[in-house]
Amino acid sequence: MFNLVLFGPPGSGKGTQSEYIIEKYGLTHLSTGDLLRAEKKSGSELGQKITALIDNGQLVSNDLVQQMVEAFVMKHAKGKGFIFDGFPRTTEQAAWLDQMLAKINSGVTLMIALDVNDAELSKRLLCRGAQSGRADDQNPEIIANRIKVYHEQTKPVMEFYKQQNKLALIDGVGELNVIFKRICEQMDKKK
Ligand code: AP5
Ligand code: MG
Repeated sequence: MFNLVLFGPPGSGKGTQSEYIIEKYGLTHLSTGDLLRAEKKSGSELGQKITALIDNGQLVSNDLVQQMVEAFVMKHAKGKGFIFDGFPRTTEQAAWLDQMLAKINSGVTLMIALDVNDAELSKRLLCRGAQSGRADDQNPEIIANRIKVYHEQTKPVMEFYKQQNKLALIDGVGELNVIFKRICEQMDKKK
């Protein structure tokens, strides 16, 4: 299995680049943001509970996200591997992911972290917010809060993978196909 953690701040291009990676490498895309938004849209009790957190750019609890991730991984465990997009977002989630993948005799192969400056992130997200309808893209304060949560709670996850010699930090600014080439170079080294 090839298990890629595709990492980066909000708006760094995780979802966009995932589509190219799926097409070339046939991995299964696991976006915790997409799963949580689907739950929210379903109007379930759980969905109602997490709406305010997602809409304000706060993280939902580790327990809840981990349950969703485990159910998804077990369902697709016979595939070529996963792109983890938006997960892990805390060092607790990262340690948990290692243990969970060990249950299927697997592990994280590589973390690719997309490096994009805060000004560029805000610009991209506000621009997308004009059409996407994503509540957390609608105003500059919420976007700033998402970036702050990233710096405070999520960025330390990079160190976790650096210590395991699995981190590749790449420049996430530029043309989509140029960034994709940078991703492929790193993935092909690990194949
Ligand atoms: P999530 O859905 O993961 O959102 P995010 O991390 O804020 O990131 P985005 O999806 O907005 O950005 P992206 O990096 O995918 O970029 P994209 O390709 O879309 O999480 C949402 C919420 O769910 C969280 O705030 C939290 O509440 C909750 N959550 C999720 N996971 C969780 C977890 N593990 N634990 C706890 N809570 C969790 O690109 C963005 C825009 O930029 C697009 O318009 C795109 O067209 C454009 N773009 C992309 N690349 C380029 C480029 N190279 N040049 C110019 N524009 C570009
Ligand atoms: Mg995304």
